Amino acid sequence: MKNQGLAMLSWLLGSLCFTSQLIAAEAAEFDAAAKYLTTCYACHGTGQAHAPVVGEVIEWEIRLEKGMETLVQNTINGLNGVMPARGMCTDCSDSDLIAIIEYMLEQSK
Ligand code: HEC
Repeated sequence: MKNQGLAMLSWLLGSLCFTSQLIAAEAAEFDAAAKYLTTCYACHGTGQAHAPVVGEVIEWEIRLEKGMETLVQNTINGLNGVMPARGMCTDCSDSDLIAIIEYMLEQSK
């Protein structure tokens, strides 16, 4: 009986470890929605500086006609002096930026 209790305990501990590892892995994954809110939202959530507002379908349909490649390049380099290079996200990699653009497009169709 005593052994059984121990076995149960170590099983419990084992699954706890497993769960916390899963949580850690998820936190490491880039959170496009959260990053959008803390960086791009200031303009793209409000229309500040005449930024195309996320959620306005037609605005983004027109943008997307240029092709995803162009949108990505214009985000990385900035556009017309009003869209800042990298959307002012200093710690976003290129693929992070692509993930945010995809998120913005997803919210606008
Ligand atoms: C300071 C305001 C501002 C911030 C912050 C900002 N943008 Fe923009 N963005 C703009 C404006 C203004 C435009 C429209 C530029 C134009 O068409 O002349 C734009 C355009 C864009 C476009 C369309 C580009 C195209 O080729 O039509 C994309 C994509 C974009 N922004 C992504 C982002 C992402 C991603 C972020 C955050 C990482 C971000 N922006 C942050 C102001 C901003």
